Amino acid sequence: MTAFKAYRITQLEKGVEADFVSMTVDQLTEGDVVVKVEWSGINYKDALAATGKGKILRKAALNGGIDLAGVVMSSDNPKFVEGDRVVLCGGSLSETLDGGFSEYARVPSAILTKLPDAISTRDAMAIGTAGFTAALAVDRMQANGQTPVQGPILVTGASGGVGSVSINLLSDLGYDVIAMTSQTSQLDYFKQLGASDILDRTQLEMGERPLEKATWGGAVDNVGGDTLGWLTRTVVPWGTIASVGLAGGFTLNTTVMPFILRGVALLGINSIEMPQTLREHIWSRLASDLQVSKLSQIVTEEVAFDALPQTLQSHLGRAAVGRTLVQISG
Ligand SMILES: NC(=O)c1ccc[n+]([C@@H]2O[C@H](COP(=O)([O-])OP(=O)(O)OC[C@H]3O[C@@H](n4cnc5c(N)ncnc54)[C@H](OP(=O)(O)O)[C@@H]3O)[C@@H](O)[C@H]2O)c1
Repeated sequence: MTAFKAYRITQLEKGVEADFVSMTVDQLTEGDVVVKVEWSGINYKDALAATGKGKILRKAALNGGIDLAGVVMSSDNPKFVEGDRVVLCGGSLSETLDGGFSEYARVPSAILTKLPDAISTRDAMAIGTAGFTAALAVDRMQANGQTPVQGPILVTGASGGVGSVSINLLSDLGYDVIAMTSQTSQLDYFKQLGASDILDRTQLEMGERPLEKATWGGAVDNVGGDTLGWLTRTVVPWGTIASVGLAGGFTLNTTVMPFILRGVALLGINSIEMPQTLREHIWSRLASDLQVSKLSQIVTEEVAFDALPQTLQSHLGRAAVGRTLVQISG
């Protein structure tokens, strides 16, 4: 069997070791579809996994990369045939399954999605888990009745992948969007995506009362911790908060007051383990009424597979905006 290149992460007693290795398909984690990976991307979680700054792998060693898009090479499931263009975002790749930083991947068909014609494999990875999660958050907020008349939506962790796509999607849907960020010099970037203004997260006065002035129509929160607590206290009656991330912490300190006195809704967003029908619904919306119109602005970096190690190292704590694409092959 032909050998191919993969970027493999091995857990050590302390931290991780990550490097390119040569593998064959039968050494990959089990799956009924073999995919030639064309593109992947770098998410916060990929950087945590590869640097050992976060415990992402739930096995001793796995190929990194929580996202992949490519072409089916072989399939034991008639739902997929050779040549199908497919995408897999956040289906436990690099947690329990070998991931997308590999020229070939073998994956369970139950978590694989055929790409709509309108989305190329490159664009699928420009969207990636980050964009897919943003779309899921927006879909859930809309389903919960969030409307533009309720007031501005605050997007936290705005310069990141989830934040950037959320701004783009919400603004295209007619919401007034405020970007909360530390990257205040990037006003033009946020305005191009559709934000009407930015809020400097380093200067924020959060207050301590169970209910502070109702300010935000709703929020997409990538930060968690004190920021999420503050959001619950400052969202208007019947507004929705989509809780997506924990870049600033995993605790949540609040009271029931926002929920029982203002009817605020806190929706959990999990793009990893979700019903396959919902996954297909989100990809279909991304190809139709929820297109990421500013994808070319959001992709701020594109690297070759060989440049992956140094790019991952520099990703955490980077002073940059947008998403990084990785060309694996093709
Ligand atoms: N629930 C899910 O299914 C799901 C899926 C994907 C991602 N996530 C999570 O969502 C978050 C965002 O993901 P991403 O891929 O967009 O990450 P990313 O590109 O690395 O962006 C994270 C952003 O958060 C802000 N940030 C970083 N450290 C912070 C801190 N200590 N305090 C406050 N803000 C901080 C920064 O934005 P500013 O400098 O602009 O403030 C940074 O750009 C991550 O926590 C990720 O794990 C969850």
